[in-house]
Amino acid sequence: MKPLRLLAFATMLCVTVIPLLSTSTPSVAQEGGHAHAGHADARHPIALNARERAFLLAEMREFLAVTQRVLAASQAGDMQAVAAAASSVGLKAHKDDFANPDSIVHDIRRKAPPAFLPLGRATHAGFDEIADIATTMGDKDAVNQLLAANLQNCVACHASYRVGE
Ligand code: HEC
Repeated sequence: MKPLRLLAFATMLCVTVIPLLSTSTPSVAQEGGHAHAGHADARHPIALNARERAFLLAEMREFLAVTQRVLAASQAGDMQAVAAAASSVGLKAHKDDFANPDSIVHDIRRKAPPAFLPLGRATHAGFDEIADIATTMGDKDAVNQLLAANLQNCVACHASYRVGE
């Protein structure tokens, strides 16, 4: 390399690469909502027994599987499949559990802070809304918008609570 080119190259390095290197670490650490190694977990622990924990986590995995099915069906324009997937975790499908004070849903409610069950109920109801919109409007954008809004409930609850002692 000629001296002038070398200088130009060195200058480019300073201007572009070095600032990138020096800012990359703090920007990762500043990302919101992540529990980084060494940081205390601020989520509220809910003390469940093994049966309640297994029930809750199985429901959760079902929520995730249904979210995937709704999105895939919506993307494919199959509104009947959207409605079928969404309504399977809707409030209507779970109304017996919510109505029965002796159900495991209410065992969990009694061990959790007051905001926990309403947030779960709202998430189930959000899937009923998705099923309704898919059936009545058949509009993919409307389905996706409602799904995105309902996923805020998942994010909000996960940010606040965990199963624990
Ligand atoms: C009312 C609160 C609440 C809502 C709403 C909620 N979750 Fe959860 N979810 C939890 C809790 C509590 C855990 C356990 C987290 C922990 O102990 O670290 C969990 C765990 C999970 C897990 C891990 C399951 C496993 O087997 O370990 C998945 C996946 C999940 N949730 C998906 C979802 C999805 C998708 C939604 C929304 C459609 C959702 N959740 C809505 C409270 C909620």
